[in-house]
Amino acid sequence: MNINKLCRGTLAPSAAIVFLAVVSAVLEQCPLRALADSQPVDRPWMDKTLSPDRRADLVLKEMTLDEKIGFVHGNGMPGWGSPRPNAYLGNGGAGFVLGVPRLGIPMIQMSDAAYGVRSSGENGRYSTALPSNLAAASSWDVQAACAYGALIGRELRAQGYNMTLGGGVNLTREPRNGRTFEYQGEDPILAGTLVGSRMKCEQAQHVMGDMKHYALNDQESGRNEVNVIIGKRAMRESDLLAFQIGIEIADPAGVMCSYNAVNGDFACENKYLLTDVLKKDWNFKGFVLSDWGGTHSTVKASAAGLDHEEPMDDFFGEKLKQAVESGKVPMSELDEHVHRILRSEFASGIVDDPVRKSVVDVEGGFETARRIAEQSIVLLKNDQGILPLDRAKLHSVAVIGPNANTSMISGGGSAQVDPPGHPATKWKEHVWFPTSPLKAISAKAPGVTVEYDSGVDRSTAAALAKKSDVAIVFAYQWTSEDFDLPSLSLPDNQDALIEQVAAANPRTIVVLETGSAVTMPWLSQVSGVLEAWYAGSKGADAVANILFGEVNPNAKLPMTFPRSEADLPHTHLVMPPPEAQDRSAVMKTGEAKPTFEVHYDEGLKVGYKWYDAENKPVLFPFGYGLSYTTFSYSGLKVNPGSETTVSFAVKNTGSRAGEEIAEAYASLPASAGEPPKRLVGWSKVYLNAGESKEVSVAVKPLYLSIYDEASNSWKLLPGSYAFMVGGSSQNLPLVQKVDFK
Ligand code: BGC
Repeated sequence: MNINKLCRGTLAPSAAIVFLAVVSAVLEQCPLRALADSQPVDRPWMDKTLSPDRRADLVLKEMTLDEKIGFVHGNGMPGWGSPRPNAYLGNGGAGFVLGVPRLGIPMIQMSDAAYGVRSSGENGRYSTALPSNLAAASSWDVQAACAYGALIGRELRAQGYNMTLGGGVNLTREPRNGRTFEYQGEDPILAGTLVGSRMKCEQAQHVMGDMKHYALNDQESGRNEVNVIIGKRAMRESDLLAFQIGIEIADPAGVMCSYNAVNGDFACENKYLLTDVLKKDWNFKGFVLSDWGGTHSTVKASAAGLDHEEPMDDFFGEKLKQAVESGKVPMSELDEHVHRILRSEFASGIVDDPVRKSVVDVEGGFETARRIAEQSIVLLKNDQGILPLDRAKLHSVAVIGPNANTSMISGGGSAQVDPPGHPATKWKEHVWFPTSPLKAISAKAPGVTVEYDSGVDRSTAAALAKKSDVAIVFAYQWTSEDFDLPSLSLPDNQDALIEQVAAANPRTIVVLETGSAVTMPWLSQVSGVLEAWYAGSKGADAVANILFGEVNPNAKLPMTFPRSEADLPHTHLVMPPPEAQDRSAVMKTGEAKPTFEVHYDEGLKVGYKWYDAENKPVLFPFGYGLSYTTFSYSGLKVNPGSETTVSFAVKNTGSRAGEEIAEAYASLPASAGEPPKRLVGWSKVYLNAGESKEVSVAVKPLYLSIYDEASNSWKLLPGSYAFMVGGSSQNLPLVQKVDFK
């Protein structure tokens, strides 16, 4: 058999299928072989001194129409419809795109990689599960975001992928959204900065980046048929601003358009979103790829700015070819799509540094996962200094909660990372990662009696709590793509469990493993609360390090925890009409229409901006998080200029070293008609006990501006601005007013 032919996809499909099993080991190297054998080093576009755009133009000139069409669509995904004859060329990921071997252009092998590389188990490989994206956002730490991206980039390459489908940055407009854990919270400046930092470092590993889901895919219920109604100013200042900032930082190869429609047009054929804003206003140079099955037309989508269809070729295969041949889609438009993809391949380094499979650095991954988890776990309550636990005074600890003896929960859907030895996790399966709170706590407390109760029987759990010095309850909320939470309550009667345990022993600490906010009817009865989110491969070690004070917590909430659903902008989720449940067949005909509307009338009042504007008290505000030490703030100075500088001093007033996330907010002049305040910057400061440091936060004009619909531009209004600084959105001791001319 001619392996090279097979690798290049030129072997007859039937013959390829016959030999599939035999050559699986060889296929591991296929994309690499095909490329290595045919790399035309002497071709002009291989000159690395040329710009990615120039190199792309040179390749484009050589491509045939079929090669171009092959570039603008995927070739199937395992489990999605019937496999294509060329399916064997895929690497097991969510999508792959044929390259042009004769021109030295590699295949694009894509994998989902939200908090780690997905589906490693299915292809016999291993990946690190980092803390969820929302968890990592709680670190407010651009270096941690960079380490996060770099690790995923390395592991993608080690597994033979050269494109990530990570980088989710939809704002937490609706905390019941099942994908909240995949995103970066409710503030556009925080979320955009973090996703940009992550993606910049991920791409630095020579993988193509992606940001998703563009845009306003802020609920999962009816995501394929919902029409989001929202004003331009509101979207530009909220959800779109997060993308704008992230794209500016990272220059990602791809932006994935979302399933939903926005103001009448599906996102993947929405000219305003794709062309007017993304490509023109933001000067995005990469390519737009559809979410899987999110393409609904050929001519309209192409003209609107969709460059690439995934995972198949329903609209951008034969139909696009015919449209080009008949002149309905100009060749220049197809060339533009191909150019954007090629340009991104050169810019990201996947042509010059082709991917080679290698072994994942498991220990290195553990170390990074633990460190980021330690920076991500938010201390929400600590009465009478119950934490950190004092080993010297402790005789017995009760560890309570489902699976707390073995594992911690992870987030599901296409973000799911397979745990080691657990191949092919199923859609909607609750996946518990092997990181044992019981073991990690026992290891920290030699000589202390540590006992476990699953909490299935509340009375035995309460009895164990009663005879123990302290009870630690691990509570979980599982969330996933494809559905939303019915409420923000902990599932499975866990509230009742916590109440009963706390009634038996008020020295109860609750550790939350959640994908979003939860309500806490038991809050006043417990002594401590730690929000550990989905804490990843080394979550239990990180939790134990914080419980026993080896790490001083410093994370802060990237989203508000409301008191109840009644306080949310949408007290009830808007659900799709029953007849609209399965429209996948209809969608392929190109006659798909959104079937119901969600009106985001809260507009730019997302998250804390809503609660501030509506005067609604919250359970825990945006930006909130405790430390084992305390901090004070003084000496605010605001210096307006091309960038406004906000400087102040932070002092560690406690008795141990710690890190403070110092937050700066601004109120705009009344004429702006904005919510009471917005985050404009922050700084993370490490301080020894008693130490004080001067901190300076540079605020870009954009962060103080409003989007003016009449002129379609950002405006920095004249008038009186108030700058506020402190440790959370509701604890801002320093205020200074400044007039902008
Ligand atoms: C998700 C995307 C994901 C894609 C491929 C879609 O259902 O919305 O986030 O990248 O599937 O798995």
